[in-house]
Amino acid sequence: MSKKIIIGNWKMNPSSQREAKDLFKSTLKAIPNKLKATVVICPPFVYLEPLLNLLKAKSKKQKAVLGAQNVSFEEKGAFTGEISMEMLKDIGVKYVIVGHSEIRAGGESNLDINKKIKMALSFGITPVLCVGELERDENHEYLSFVRKQIEECLAGVIKSSISKIIIAYEPVWAVGKGSIREASPEEFHEMRIFIKKVLSDKFGAKMVEKVKILYGGSLHIDDISEFLKEDAGGFLVGRYSLDAKKFSEIIKKCEA
Ligand code: PGA
Repeated sequence: MSKKIIIGNWKMNPSSQREAKDLFKSTLKAIPNKLKATVVICPPFVYLEPLLNLLKAKSKKQKAVLGAQNVSFEEKGAFTGEISMEMLKDIGVKYVIVGHSEIRAGGESNLDINKKIKMALSFGITPVLCVGELERDENHEYLSFVRKQIEECLAGVIKSSISKIIIAYEPVWAVGKGSIREASPEEFHEMRIFIKKVLSDKFGAKMVEKVKILYGGSLHIDDISEFLKEDAGGFLVGRYSLDAKKFSEIIKKCEA
């Protein structure tokens, strides 16, 4: 089995730096030693640097790396409230989530996401591209929807770069507060094959062999092994990443 990646998306939590540090410390403590999987914690921007400093001070062998939940596609300048890729790179951020449905809901387009992906690649930061349909329909229109997301978000990305991108399948109906339910491992299975097909059409089967397709959205710990059987490359975890014990259980299941 290939190396799994587990990404914790803390969203707009917790409310103080003290709590963020405590959560981070307990998360690191709960992560098993001699970890094979990659663990990425994505806290709010303001906690990135304090947590990176904690990580540096803590151990020689780092159990986790830090990622950002979003980024600007602009390089620098008069963009009030934005954070640039260069700023993230400068402090040591390794991953960035792009195209999360909670950000798309605010009007982010596939074109915006496309610019972010290209920017991330140019800085050597790994983009985690979230794709997923708003709803499922009997006519399978949701497949075309996801195809369009992938094609537009990855337009102009060169063949040799596709292996540097991670895709997270996060059906919007399964994510966060408005979630109806978790996707079933069978639904993930269908979508994983579909996403690989869309990627292969564009980049060639050989180039996409190693591209990881993660699952995210109301993940239940009990279902992890089923998702892994369907060849999930790992998980993008929201609510459970705020609970060090539950998050570590997810990691341990991926290690097993
Ligand atoms: P959830 O969030 O696990 O709380 O549904 C997943 C995500 O938004 O990435």
